[in-house]
Amino acid sequence: MEIKNVVIVGMGTMGSQIGIVFARGGYQTTMVDLSEGLIEKGMEGIQSFLNNQVKKGKMRTDEMNQILSCMNTTLDLGKALSDVGLVIEAVFEDMNVKKGLFKKMDDLCPRQTILGSNTSTLSITEMGAVTARPDQCIGIHFLIPAALTPLVEVVRGSETSDDTHKKVIDLLHRCGKETVTVKDSPGFVINRLYLPMVNEAFYVLESSIASAEEIDRCCVQGLRFPLGPLAAADAFGLDVLLNCMKTFHKEMGEKYRPAPLLIKLVEAGWLGRKSGRGVYDYRGRE
Ligand SMILES: NC(=O)c1ccc[n+]([C@@H]2O[C@H](COP(=O)([O-])OP(=O)(O)OC[C@H]3O[C@@H](n4cnc5c(N)ncnc54)[C@H](O)[C@@H]3O)[C@@H](O)[C@H]2O)c1
Repeated sequence: MEIKNVVIVGMGTMGSQIGIVFARGGYQTTMVDLSEGLIEKGMEGIQSFLNNQVKKGKMRTDEMNQILSCMNTTLDLGKALSDVGLVIEAVFEDMNVKKGLFKKMDDLCPRQTILGSNTSTLSITEMGAVTARPDQCIGIHFLIPAALTPLVEVVRGSETSDDTHKKVIDLLHRCGKETVTVKDSPGFVINRLYLPMVNEAFYVLESSIASAEEIDRCCVQGLRFPLGPLAAADAFGLDVLLNCMKTFHKEMGEKYRPAPLLIKLVEAGWLGRKSGRGVYDYRGRE
């Protein structure tokens, strides 16, 4: 069956941006979150991102309106899933939360629906195992900011079928994305390489070897990164980073222990851009 519509569960940092990708690709896209307030916040983020794209001359107003016309939101997961080709969850990076949701999606979706996860580090195989369709479960790992980053990392669980894989790759290509397919393993490839380096930047900062600005400048001006590791950590959320490092540490050992400074900032509620304060202070900035 051809995929005609998409549901995104979770309208946080990632879910809202993933919604833009599919709506831009012309797919009817329904987004779900847990309260009216969270849905409103997600839609505000989408509107502000699109307005900025128009202001910068990177998108026409009629394109923006076309994208918005392909989007709708609901609190009713059951209704959203009753007739959907692909659902992607972008909820908290916690295996128990994801497994609970995969079980629910499996119960509520038509038999042919593909179940996707945007997890950064967790096992697709383990999520698929709680469903009656592990062959139709797959990792679709978008990178921040999902609406602009060209590549999507596609992750095959141990039971993901060739048919599921092909349908997802075709869909992503139709939405203008490049893809890379990798095996299921903690952090897959991109985060396995990148996040331990970001974690190391917190150790370097805590050891007073350099300031946050200098650490970021080393990577931006010296290594030509688009964003320094500490600014990037603030963008994806220190709580999300910490959960990812906890998975690495549990699955792959001591080398991946989360930096104490990262833990301290999360305990203080300094989660990065989304809370107004992380490594850097965003309060009072636009
Ligand atoms: N932040 C990043 O840079 C990034 C990058 C790639 C992948 N990811 C992954 O994407 C996922 C989401 O991360 P995020 O940064 O968007 O998190 P976030 O905390 O910004 O957003 C999560 C959203 O999911 C909603 N939610 C939670 N449970 C729900 C449920 N049962 N039904 C509906 N909505 C629910 C929350 O209310 C929240 O709005 C995680 O698995 C994360 O690892 C994050």
